[in-house]
This record gives sequence, C-alpha cells and structure tokens, in this order.
Amino acid sequence: MRTGEGEGRATSDDGENRPVRRLSAWDDDELADLAATYETPLYVMDLERVRENCRRLHEAFPDADVRYAAKAHTGRVVLETVRTEGLAIECASAGEVERAFAAGAAGDEVQYTAVNPPDRDLDIVVRRWENDPGLTITVGARDTVERLRDRGFDGRLCVRVNPGVGAGHHEKVTTGGHAKFGVPYSEAASVVRDACDDFEVVGIHAHAGSGISGDDLSAHREVVRRMGDLARDVSAFVDLEFVDVGGGFGVPYREDEPPLDLPNVAEATREALGDVDAQLAVEPGRYVVADAGVLLATVNTVKESAEYETLVGIDAGMTTLLRPAMYDAYHAVQNLSAEDARDAIPVTVAGPICETSDVLCEHRPLAAPARGDVLAVGNAGAYGYEMASTYNSRPRPAEVVLDPDPRLARRREPLAALTELER
Ligand SMILES: Cc1ncc(COP(=O)(O)O)c(C=O)c1O
Repeated sequence: MRTGEGEGRATSDDGENRPVRRLSAWDDDELADLAATYETPLYVMDLERVRENCRRLHEAFPDADVRYAAKAHTGRVVLETVRTEGLAIECASAGEVERAFAAGAAGDEVQYTAVNPPDRDLDIVVRRWENDPGLTITVGARDTVERLRDRGFDGRLCVRVNPGVGAGHHEKVTTGGHAKFGVPYSEAASVVRDACDDFEVVGIHAHAGSGISGDDLSAHREVVRRMGDLARDVSAFVDLEFVDVGGGFGVPYREDEPPLDLPNVAEATREALGDVDAQLAVEPGRYVVADAGVLLATVNTVKESAEYETLVGIDAGMTTLLRPAMYDAYHAVQNLSAEDARDAIPVTVAGPICETSDVLCEHRPLAAPARGDVLAVGNAGAYGYEMASTYNSRPRPAEVVLDPDPRLARRREPLAALTELER
C-alpha cells in the first residue's frame, strides 16, 4: 500500500494544504476495497480534498468573491461542501440552478450564466428569482436582456463580455474569443448602459477558457486587463458590485506537471485588473474538484497480439469519462492490483463502447494488467461523472464519497432507467 509522500499527499503531516494531489497519493488498499464493495465502474470523491481546494482559493484570493462553477461536478454533496466553505455557485443551466437550490443555496449564492438560453430555462430561472430575488442572471446577448424583460425580470443582472481573447488546454475549451459566448467587447458598455434603465446591473463577466496553465498567463492577463478597462468605462453610469473574470485555473493532469502557482495567478489577476471600484470575482470549477476524484474500473479483457500493443479492456469507457475521447485529455492510470508486484508494459486501455475513440490511453506503461485487476484513473473529479452518458445503453456508474468514511452518494443507474421514459 502506498499512501503518497511529499507533494503527492493532499495534506502533509504538518497540516499544510498541498497544491496538488497526485493519483499515487490515494490509498491503494482503500480504493481496492471500495471497488470490491460498490463494484465498478465507480467514481470516488474525497470531500476533504474539495474543502482543501476551496481553502487554497480563499487564501490566494482573500478579498475576492469565489464562486464554484457547478458544471465541473453538480453532485449534491459537492455543492453542499463548497457552500459550507463559503463559495457561491455559478450555474450554466436551469437544471444547475435547481440543483444549487436543492443543495440549500439561497438566491444570493446563485449566479445563472445564460448561454444561448432556451425559453424553458429562462422561465424556470425567472420563476425562481420571483421567490429569491437575490439570484443574479448573467446575459451573453442583447436579446437575452429583452427576453428577460418580457418575462418581468428586473433584478440583478450581469453582462457577459466576449473579451476577444481566449485560452485553454484545448481549442474546444477556449471560450474567450468564440462568438458563442458573451456580448462583443465593443458593444459591452452600451449593453450595460441600456440595461441600467430596467435592471439592477451588478456585474460584468468574462471567461477566457479552461485549463489555463502557469506557463502562459498572458491570455488570462489580457482578458482581465480588458475587464478592468470596461469596469472603469461603465463606472460613469453604474456602480458595479463585481467584476467576474471567470474560472479556468488548470490542474496538473500529468504526473510530472507542476501544480499551478495559484498565488502567482492571483497576483497577476489583481495587477491586470488595476484599480476598480468593484469586487473581484472568480469562478473555478475544475480546480475545486478535479484532484478530489478518481474513477475505478475493472479489467475485463487482455488481448495480446504480434501486431499491436497489449490491449486492456475495462468496464469504464467514454460514456463514463468522456475527456480523453473529446479533448485527447491525459489522465494518470494506475493498476491497483499489481502496482508493486508486476513489471510495467506498454498498453492501450480501452472501454466497452463501440467507437474507435473509446480509448483512455495508448502506449502507457502499466503494471502488466490481468483480468480482474482494478485500475484507478486520476483527476476524475471534474467533468467526469458530469459528462457521463448512457450511450450504447450503458447505465451511468455509482459514486461514493469519502467524508472521511465512505458512503454512497449516487447509486448505479439501473438498467430499467434506460427505458423508463419511453412510452
Ligand atoms: C462561464 C464559465 N465559468 C467557469 C467555468 C469553469 O471552468 P474551469 O472548470 O476550467 O475552472 C467555465 C467552464 O466552461 C465557464 O464556461
């Protein structure tokens, strides 16, 4: 059993909150026991690590409003945990807003960021606002403002700006310069000014993209600088409560990648924002939950061949963890059943989905897997369960939380759920 050492451990013996928790820092025996008890595929979330990540954010951004981007993991226990740590909840849909309220949030802890919102979403959120007027709605298009006005909304409004600059670990998560997101920068001040007549305009917002690394903060700085300029421009006609510069703080997915220097990001953010008469707000998702979660899977097939690398088939696939298929994302993998006992061989690990892209990793050295072994996949807490689907009619996995004792947070979807909506 290895419980991790040095920087790998989440919290060291002296209680210091480490900036990264590597896959090797998890307790192999505990994970193997969980796989045996709850079966696989299984998501495991460590709530204490979620708390630690929240605390590091507060420490780095002591006077900012830190909001949790719920899209990374909307599980009720996670939302309850981040609320307890003093984070508000940023929601991308009416469904996420409903989840935030179900987790006990009050209206003033909820920001709904409307991305090309369907009518149904606006109807639901405005109805919520009628009971909880503290709720804030962020609009990314002039016509969303009209649609809210038509529904009688005249509450707290924030304008999402397209800063014209993006950043991120993959083109598919680089939002900052994409026409889909936000009011064009050149029109933002006029949208804010026009909205002031009918709404309580409380903020401006931008999000550059996801997975921003410490190596290149230039795009982040540029987005924040533009937001600072805009805040100063609009201060001529509105008293903003906050300037929200989005989330996107990256986590090290590769074992040799250094963790993000969060205090340095915070300093760069402050510097780039400059002097504004409004509170800074940030809304990280991944940073809060990624390294708090692992995915456990069982090896069901080992296929050796002369032509190809050893193929290891597991019971978790792209429907369980989509990121590798969608973003070519790297996730650390460890063989819990054989880590110290067998030599590593290069393998391809693939899931049970009938798609070529259903591959978790290729050419990866792994302690020679055998049927029945349990593999652990690291950094699965963010955009893991959240992006799970039932494609190929595979029910979604179960999820266990450690707090610190394990308990089932979401039961495995039963086969019957696949057909229960049909008539
Ligand atoms: C508006 C907004 N805020 C915050 C986030 C969170 O990003 P991350 O999980 O990379 O911090 C996203 C991610 O898509 C987003 O679109």
